Amino acid sequence: MSTVYQATASAPVNIAVIKYWGKRDTKLILPTNSSLSVTLDQDHLRSTTTSRADPSFVKDTLWLNGKEDEIKPGGRLATCISELKRLRQATVENEDPSAPKLSTYKVHIASYNNFPTAAGLASSASGFAALVASLAQLYALPVSPSTLSIIARQGSGSACRSLYGGFVAWQEGVLPDGSDSLAVQVAPQSHWPEIHALICVVSDDKKGTSSTSGMQLTVETSTLLQHRIKAVVPQRMKDISKAILEKDFDTFARITMADSNQFHAVALDTEPPIFYMNDVSRAIIAVIVEYNRLSLANGQGYKAAYTYDAGPNAVIYAEEKNIKEIIQLIVSFFPQREGTFKDNLGVFAQGAEVNAQA
Ligand code: ADP
Ligand code: DP6
Ligand code: CO
Repeated sequence: MSTVYQATASAPVNIAVIKYWGKRDTKLILPTNSSLSVTLDQDHLRSTTTSRADPSFVKDTLWLNGKEDEIKPGGRLATCISELKRLRQATVENEDPSAPKLSTYKVHIASYNNFPTAAGLASSASGFAALVASLAQLYALPVSPSTLSIIARQGSGSACRSLYGGFVAWQEGVLPDGSDSLAVQVAPQSHWPEIHALICVVSDDKKGTSSTSGMQLTVETSTLLQHRIKAVVPQRMKDISKAILEKDFDTFARITMADSNQFHAVALDTEPPIFYMNDVSRAIIAVIVEYNRLSLANGQGYKAAYTYDAGPNAVIYAEEKNIKEIIQLIVSFFPQREGTFKDNLGVFAQGAEVNAQA
């Protein structure tokens, strides 16, 4: 009987509060600016990936949600797989001549997302993080999350941040080989467990412009992006990191919303312009702005922070004590569908559940 070499790993999505949008190196996936995100709860939006190595397999193959996805030679999937095989060879097989030569076997990889793929809910982040984690487990690699984050980055930039939980920065780095462009944890989730995320699924359609091609067009055509990366993001990275360490929700909320707005402004400043938000997205912004206005007028500070990735779906960060009220508010304006997706960064099953459907 032959041995089965197989491993399964899951990774959660992360939703940025300082957005990554632009590459200075498209092959290595080196960003034009640092970014910072919150990794959501693994119980909710996640990718689960199983990898198997076997001498009988004839080619590396990936099935995404049950459908075969092409692994293009030299492409991102191929890069991640070959980097991990190289590490297997250089570590485990090199040190122990009796270890099975898994690096020489082809792999079959099957991955499932339990939420909409390519709809602006960061499926590429959880997807590549889970893929890298499952192969690292299959190959029993003695490597740190930081090394895995460098490999995941070469699959999808945002994926490097999903190797860590809690509040995570992706440092842009300065080295041309990308060895210092990696994720670091700013604070674990347990540092600020009161922060919850509410996922409002406005549409689960595949987006019209992928993040990869959208940001490349922005780099090529937007003058506003140059202002953003030089004059805006560096200060915001410092300020929001401090706000997280001090659990200062007012500052966290102000910067989060401002950065989401500026990201969508640079998308609009692209030629041809890119629109990721729709009327429902904008209506949710109006509701949150008014909700915060009333709260500020009562001297209670900010209560909610919206942010949108490259798609129409809202993520609302708020303290747990306000989550129920915000769900009621959103559902009263957008009552069509009951919740399907939920995320709860603190206590599990807290009812942070909403799916505001257009
Ligand atoms: P999103 O906003 O969902 O991250 P992107 O345009 O950034 O959208 O990326 C979507 C692409 O990411 C998919 O078309 C697919 O190539 C890749 N992807 C998504 N989920 C997975 C997964 N579980 N495993 C491998 N690749 C994935
Ligand atoms: C708006 O990481 O999906 O979600 O590196 O080309 O795969 P590629 O792009 P991707 O871009 C994410 C953009 C964003 C902001 C963010 O997550 O920081
Ligand atoms: Co993505």
